Order: sequence, then C-alpha cells, then structure tokens
Amino acid sequence: MAIQPATTENINRAAQKLRSGELVIFPTETVYGVGADARNTEAIAKIYKAKGRPQDHPVIVHLAKETDVREWAAEWPPMAQRLVDMFWPGPLTLIVKRNLQIPATVSGGQDTIGLRCPSHPVAQALLHSFGGGIAAPSANRFGRISPTTAAHAESELGRYVECILNGGASAIGIESTIVDLSRGYPVLLRPGQISRVALQEVLSEPIRTADAQAPRASGMLESHYAPKTPMYLLSAADITKKLQSLSARQTPLAIYSHSLPALDGQGLTWKAAPVNVVAYAHDLYADLRQLDQQGCKQIWVEAVPQSIEWQGVADRLFRASR
Ligand code: TXA
Ligand code: MG
Repeated sequence: MAIQPATTENINRAAQKLRSGELVIFPTETVYGVGADARNTEAIAKIYKAKGRPQDHPVIVHLAKETDVREWAAEWPPMAQRLVDMFWPGPLTLIVKRNLQIPATVSGGQDTIGLRCPSHPVAQALLHSFGGGIAAPSANRFGRISPTTAAHAESELGRYVECILNGGASAIGIESTIVDLSRGYPVLLRPGQISRVALQEVLSEPIRTADAQAPRASGMLESHYAPKTPMYLLSAADITKKLQSLSARQTPLAIYSHSLPALDGQGLTWKAAPVNVVAYAHDLYADLRQLDQQGCKQIWVEAVPQSIEWQGVADRLFRASR
C-alpha cells in the first residue's frame, strides 16, 4: 500500500478503513503504529498476523484527548489521573484494570488494558475522525526495530495494511514509557522519554521496577527492537582495543559511536551517533536500520551514559544487542 500525505481527506478515508475492520499505519510522536478498531476482535487478529506476534501479547489502545477513559478502564486510580494531567497527550502508556466490556483480545487475555493518548497531530486527527479507540502496536514485524518514518513502516508491514499515513519522522524516536497502575502501586514496565524521576515527581512516591508478577509486555522480552545483523554493546575503550586486533572474521563491520573519532578502515562502516540524548533517541532506529543494510557481519554500538535521562535509550540498546 502506497504512503499517503496526511490530508483531511486521507485521514477520513483511513478512519473509514478502521471502521470496516482494516489496518491502518499512522504516525505518532514516538514511533509509527499499525492500528485497528480496538473493539473489533477480528481486526485486532489481523494485527497479530501482520506482525507475526504471539496472541497473548497485549496491544496499547490509543485514545483522543476528550475520550472518557472509564469506557476502557474498570478502575481509574487517582495516580492515573495525576499522570494524565501532566503527560497526556504524550509518550506515556498507563496499564489499568480493563473494563470487561472491552474485548480481551486487545489485552492478550489479561484483565488489564494499556491506554495512551498520543500527541502527534495526525494521530489525534485520526482518532477524532474515527471516534473510538485505536489498538496499535509499533508497525514492525515482531521483535524488530520500530519504524520512525512512513517508509520504514511500509517496508515492515506495507503489504498487510489498507493505508499508510505520512506524518514525517517521529519526533521522539523510541516507544512510550509504560507505567503499570493495576496493582495499587506504580511499576515502570518500559522506560521512555518520560523518565522514572519525572514520574516520581508527579506521584511523590517511588516507582518500582518490573518483577515476575508484572503484567507481560512483549517489549520486555530480552531480544527485541533488534536489527538482523548481530549487534554488540561495547565501551569506547573496548571498541578501540578490539579494532586493533580486528580479525577478518568480524569484517565487514559497522560501528555506531557517540564519542570516538571516526576511523576509516578497510571493511569498516563508521556512523557517528548524536551526543545529545534527545537527538540520539530520534535517530537511533533509523541509524540502526541503515547500518543493518550495509551487509556487515556485526554492528558494534558504543554503550551510552548510565544517567537517568539515557535510561530509555539504554534499555532499547540492551534489548537490541546480544
Ligand atoms: O510508543 C508506543 O507505545 C508505540 C506507539 C505506536 O504508540 N506503541 C508500542 O506498542 O510501542 P507495542 O505493542 O509495540 O508495545 C507496547 C507494549 C508491549 O510491550 C505490550 O506488551 C505492552 O505495551 N502492553 C500493552 N498493554 C499491556 C497490558 N495490558 N499489560 C501489560 N503490558 C501491556
Ligand atoms: Mg513494539
């Protein structure tokens, strides 16, 4: 399916496709999503099929700003309202108890539901035109790198969808922060641009880390967001050292580094990573996609700083690497 400019006419047509149970790829500020009518079980099944994703993995329901969350949630804790007041529309997904009138398929059979109100104007326009909730995981094959442009989404899932709306490159570039509020206390299931510290400031209580009892989230699988080329995370010192003893077996080799000066060696594809975390997140998936296509045997990525604002990026790099 060809990529379409996000005109009012095309957005309305996309909403019509959703109503008739088809899939639509649309932009959000984090990554592109592949959407279906969240109340249509058969349409949701199409998402699982297109992504090659196991049926028990829940998907996020996207809502317009004006939507009454109680249509979707059985409980709406005060903590949820505080986070929503601060961060919606924006890159935050809340896990709450599901209103049992909502099909369990959307939650992979769990009694919870993930809700998010995206800030991207095209996503908001589509939600308004459609008038309901849109179930949408990232528009990539299961386990692969999320798309941050319409072209990347098309290359992943184009043949499964009726429409691809072009909203430019996603501003943030990594997926939303996910906070579970279904157990009475907040648990960080997936870090993102909104950091643990920012969440704690709003809630005035510590945010726990996911444990074995936490709801299943596919983005929490260790191998996820991964390029096809084996990727390794190394310190700058290790990259330098290993380059000196580089064996023919490892080349051709791609290197993604934010601190080392570019090296022009035989069989080396060097890409400078942004130094600033906002730019790094914005470019990361597009850069990994590009490095994945160089025909290299390995991708070496320089490990990023361990400070709190890098947590979302560090998490994705960890899961993408071996
Ligand atoms: O930024 C984003 O969140 C993007 C854009 C398209 O909105 N979406 C996204 O969806 O990343 P997806 O499906 O690729 O990742 C959503 C994560 C998955 O790990 C899923 O398991 C988890 O959210 N999730 C969704 N509903 C859940 C629930 N009820 N309980 C636990 N985890 C849930
Ligand atoms: Mg995903």
